[in-house]
Amino acid sequence: IDRYPTIIMSSVLLLNLFLSTVALNLAALAAGEDEFVFSGFKGANITVDGVATVTRNGLVDLTNGQETLKGHAFYPAPLRFRESPNGPGAGGTVRSFSLSFVFAVQSEFDKESSGGMAFFVAPGRNFSGAMPGSFLGLFNASTNGRPDNRIFVAELDTFGNGEFKDIDSNHVGIDVNGLISVEAHTAGFYDDKTGSFTNLSLNSGDPMQLWVEYDAQTTQVISTLAPLGAAKPRRPLFTATTNLSDVLKDPSFVGFSGASGSLSTLYSVLGWSFGVDGPAPAINITSLPKLFRGRQEARSKVLQIVLPIATAVFITAMGTAITLLVRRHQRYAELREDWEVEFGPHRFSYKDLYHATEGFKNKNLLGEGGFGKVYKGVLPVSHLEVAVKKVSHESRQGMKEFIAEVVSIGRLRHRYLVQLLGYCRREHELILVYEYMPNGSLDKYLHCGEDKPTLDWTQRFGIINGIACGLLYLHEKWEKVVIHRDIKASNVLLDGEMNGRLGDFGLARLYDHGTDLQTTHVVGTMGYLAPELLRSGKASPLTDVYAFGTFLLEVACGQRPIKQDSEDEQIMLVDWVLEHWRNGTLLQPMDTRLHGDYDKDEASMVLKLGLLCLHPLPTARPSMNQVMEYLSGETTLPELAPTQINNVNMMHIRGFPDLTTSIGT
Ligand SMILES: *[C@@H]1O[C@H](CO)[C@@H](O)[C@H](O)[C@H]1NC(C)=O
Ligand SMILES: *[C@@H]1O[C@H](CO)[C@@H](O)[C@H](O)[C@H]1NC(C)=O
Ligand SMILES: *[C@@H]1O[C@H](CO)[C@@H](O)[C@H](O)[C@H]1NC(C)=O
Ligand SMILES: *[C@@H]1O[C@H](CO)[C@@H](O)[C@H](O)[C@H]1NC(C)=O
Ligand SMILES: *[C@@H]1O[C@H](CO)[C@@H](O)[C@H](O)[C@H]1NC(C)=O
Ligand SMILES: *[C@@H]1O[C@H](CO)[C@@H](O)[C@H](O)[C@H]1NC(C)=O
Repeated sequence: IDRYPTIIMSSVLLLNLFLSTVALNLAALAAGEDEFVFSGFKGANITVDGVATVTRNGLVDLTNGQETLKGHAFYPAPLRFRESPNGPGAGGTVRSFSLSFVFAVQSEFDKESSGGMAFFVAPGRNFSGAMPGSFLGLFNASTNGRPDNRIFVAELDTFGNGEFKDIDSNHVGIDVNGLISVEAHTAGFYDDKTGSFTNLSLNSGDPMQLWVEYDAQTTQVISTLAPLGAAKPRRPLFTATTNLSDVLKDPSFVGFSGASGSLSTLYSVLGWSFGVDGPAPAINITSLPKLFRGRQEARSKVLQIVLPIATAVFITAMGTAITLLVRRHQRYAELREDWEVEFGPHRFSYKDLYHATEGFKNKNLLGEGGFGKVYKGVLPVSHLEVAVKKVSHESRQGMKEFIAEVVSIGRLRHRYLVQLLGYCRREHELILVYEYMPNGSLDKYLHCGEDKPTLDWTQRFGIINGIACGLLYLHEKWEKVVIHRDIKASNVLLDGEMNGRLGDFGLARLYDHGTDLQTTHVVGTMGYLAPELLRSGKASPLTDVYAFGTFLLEVACGQRPIKQDSEDEQIMLVDWVLEHWRNGTLLQPMDTRLHGDYDKDEASMVLKLGLLCLHPLPTARPSMNQVMEYLSGETTLPELAPTQINNVNMMHIRGFPDLTTSIGT
């Protein structure tokens, strides 16, 4: 659980890292009409056609790396190339202009390709009739060389085509209106220091920069090539002479064309600058996009496939990990407040209890009592068998006092009490951990039907004595008075030696804490509720004694406190026993499953004591101390007539029929 925030943090960091690598790298476009510069094309206003695309990281890919395709990229607006517009008789020479661009050619077969790419100035943007391959996506067989094309081209030709008088398969050429170059030169540069020529392989995949400058005065076109990052060589690659005033229309479009032939090739432009009547602005080399693909198409394809899958797998894995952590966190989440620190040693971790009960599985369910479900569990480290009780509880009101009491009760140890080991708290839930009682609750033995093995009288009398002893301890022997509030056969548990042990004490207190009079719910179980408890809702040791009276009759007679007779009428066990006493057949109600095999004196004493405890007047009931004395025979039960105990129970139930709904069972 502690590691959970750290993992969230690191995934946020990862996400940040991811976002910053994709960070915007916008091209700076000069404000002036006559010049512009793109140091990368991310977010740039560039018009493309064919298979050309502007990639997410800011490259212009003129082709997509497949065969026999073309694509174009244009500056979106046409540019003015003359001092005055075209028109009949209107002259105006073409202005000087210069440009530079950074490009890369990546071909499937390292040193070969069968097309090329070009910068062009053209009157229109419709190249739908042009052919790929050697036609560079600019011309077709019928348009090639026609004077009305009015196109200027700086070509990077990677295919030597004899038809167009190409000098080789790796050259830079200046063309006008067609593919036969005015002038061309093998790609390379002259070293500034030594003056020697160095070949450059255009389709090496390495980025290179080409400068092209047209001087209107001299009508010269100067072309210079260099590897990316190198300064522009002083000596140009070559100079062509052509009077563009006879060629270009005004306005004209500027852009790039890429065309692959039978070998798949990827032509990319990384940056571009252009200026009229002056040098082109410098391209900022450091902010150019990276060519992240391999030189070979195969490799880039692998990346194209593997990268998204790897990313998806990574994201899914992260997502799953986070979901699992969040689930785990929620599964084991607890409610812990500052005031609980002092109760620390009595607090169990929810995780331990979760594992102890195998996730509160139904197969570990021991029973469902008044306050919640009880599960059997084995604590992870100590391997101690425990009973885990889940009590649903919404309000936090009085919780501190209750926990304090639970903990103090936890310190309360007695042979005939089920030991409370500790607690745990969650939203809406209180979990209490008790020692495990292997033989379950007493009511299962008392009300299990005729055929089941039942308890003999000695066992029953032992259990009665034990519970009386435990209750006496709660009422009188401990440092403060603890009222049980829910004594009944199902709250009496049997340990390994069939000793009865009182469980669930104090729990009822949680439910009548802090509630106002109008909503007071009487806690307890029908048939065990003293009449004054029904009237005032106030529990006292004597209301426990009343419930203990019912318990005595229940154990002796093997009957529930409220039984159904043959006519489906509800009969109170106390009335039934009382009636037999009046009729002189006191022992008649004794459990038939005992087959008369019991000590008659003990039995009649237990029945009479039960009836005495059930006296409607609280003050007439014995204290638990007296009860112990009667049971042990130290004191003999006072002689009393059945008429001294009046039947008031039925009256109370009939008087408040709706009480049944608000009384816990
Ligand atoms: C791109 O440039 C053209 C021509 O200048 C303009 O009409 C268009 O609105 C621009 N588009 C964007 C998205 O800026
Ligand atoms: C482009 O030119 C072709 C003829 O070469 C024509 O059919 C087509 O309509 C034109 N497209 C546009 C968009 O003008
Ligand atoms: C050549 O291109 C022109 C102009 O785009 C077009 O009109 C013509 O149909 C094309 N010819 C062939 C043979 O494709
Ligand atoms: C440079 O290229 C030319 C033409 O392709 C070739 O003849 C020459 O041998 C090359 N030089 C070097 C040093 O590779
Ligand atoms: C270029 O052509 C234009 C128009 O044909 C002409 O006016 C100009 O003098 C020419 N320039 C040179 C240097 O020949
Ligand atoms: C070039 O780009 C880098 C990174 O984008 C930036 O730091 C630098 O200031 C730019 N240089 C110029 C001259 O604009």
